[in-house]
Amino acid sequence: MNIALIILAAGKGTRMESDLPKVLHKIAGAPMLAHVMKAGNSLEPEKVVVVAGHGADLVTKAAQDYDPEATIVLQEEQLGTGHAAMQARDALAGFEGDAIVMFGDTPFISQDTLERMAEARAKHDVVVLGFNAADPAKYGRLVTEGDTLLRIVEFKDASDEERAITLCNSGVLCASAPMLFDLLDQVNNDNASGEYYLPDIVGIARDKGMSATAVTCDEAETLGINSRAELAVAEKIFQTKARADLIEDGVYMQAPDTVYLSFDTVIGRDAEIEPNVVFGPGVTIESNAQIRAFSHLEGCHVSRGSVVGPYARLRPGAELAEDVRIGNFVEVKNAQIDEGAKVNHLSYIGDAHVGAGSNIGAGTITCNYDGFFKHKTEIGAGAFIGSNTMLVAPVKIGVGALTGSGSVITKSVPDGAMALARAPQDNKEGRATKMFDILKAKKAKSQKDKS
Ligand code: UD1
Ligand code: CA
Repeated sequence: MNIALIILAAGKGTRMESDLPKVLHKIAGAPMLAHVMKAGNSLEPEKVVVVAGHGADLVTKAAQDYDPEATIVLQEEQLGTGHAAMQARDALAGFEGDAIVMFGDTPFISQDTLERMAEARAKHDVVVLGFNAADPAKYGRLVTEGDTLLRIVEFKDASDEERAITLCNSGVLCASAPMLFDLLDQVNNDNASGEYYLPDIVGIARDKGMSATAVTCDEAETLGINSRAELAVAEKIFQTKARADLIEDGVYMQAPDTVYLSFDTVIGRDAEIEPNVVFGPGVTIESNAQIRAFSHLEGCHVSRGSVVGPYARLRPGAELAEDVRIGNFVEVKNAQIDEGAKVNHLSYIGDAHVGAGSNIGAGTITCNYDGFFKHKTEIGAGAFIGSNTMLVAPVKIGVGALTGSGSVITKSVPDGAMALARAPQDNKEGRATKMFDILKAKKAKSQKDKS
């Protein structure tokens, strides 16, 4: 069956107390909306329609960053979830398959759950995803009779008897697309909120003799995010699951609760992640690499057998080949570090290429920025950069070359050459002793004058 996704993301999210549209608040570094789109994508939909309204420009950008093929439709006024879903009608004109409606503020629906809904659709006209809520609060309630879903009633419109129902509406719903739009046509706003409710299509379908049923899933999947407190809960749920998944795949973490992952963090088997490591977006760690405590990584790639940290920072474009060493208080940005190279202490390597087996001494800095432009530093294989060398880019250090400690290198160094670029040393015999004697006498006199 061909599937189209309709993702509702037009609401303001008043309770977030934020200028940012609700669906753009981030979980594990990616907007909530991207999590929803990723979940929906697992069904390999033929079409993806995102309904934007509040902050439509930003929502459009986020949706198309995730899926450039997504169609964005505008809901000018937010008149309710039913009205929002209706906005997808033109975008899906002629589409005969099933539509699955998802909410942009409900990011954790699993692939398995969506597949079970698609299966149930084979037997029923309308399938709704429900969950048994520990605290049903203000969720819509599913009124059922055996396997049959009779209707959905919003909390505001529910009787006391209906409010006692704990089976709640997640918002996710599946029906044939042409039929969904026909049903939506008949939804009115004659209710406590004066809104067009999407869940009303269930009662309308039943009145027309169609069948409806509810598929249920774990409550953790249906968490709807309406406030920053709920966003924090969602982050915790994501982190717990992402850590558990990596551990199951063979990653070693001594203190998983202290490791923060992004939505797209990839870590290979037998890699070791020490406590208090933060992964920003876009990180790949290969098997057998070790990320030591208190390191911060984003947009980088660490190959097999490399060791990073403790206290290292890898920024976007840091590309580490196999068996590289990046030690404490080292920052690497937009730099390729070839096999076996070592940058062990207190260095900044930015916009650079470090050749295989090179040794970068403590305190080395690539001076890559002149206030206007960034420039590149190239270091040949097997080079030895003395401690506290300033490499003023653009500059090239040859294969097997050496720079003396404390050098400020402004000119390229040929292969195999040694570059010394520091003031020559000048020893003044006996001068220290003489100076200390003078200062000692001066101090003794000032103390005598005081007393
Ligand atoms: C909705 C359901 C409720 C369900 C709950 C689950 C309705 C009427 N109620 O309530 O049964 O238990 O979700 O979390 O559907 N949106 C638009 N345009 C609008 C209104 C909403 O795009 O005009 C979008 C919002 O951006 C949001 C989603 O639809 O992503 C849900 O809207 P929200 O106002 O949060 O619905 P709830 O009151 O939570
Ligand atoms: Ca909601």
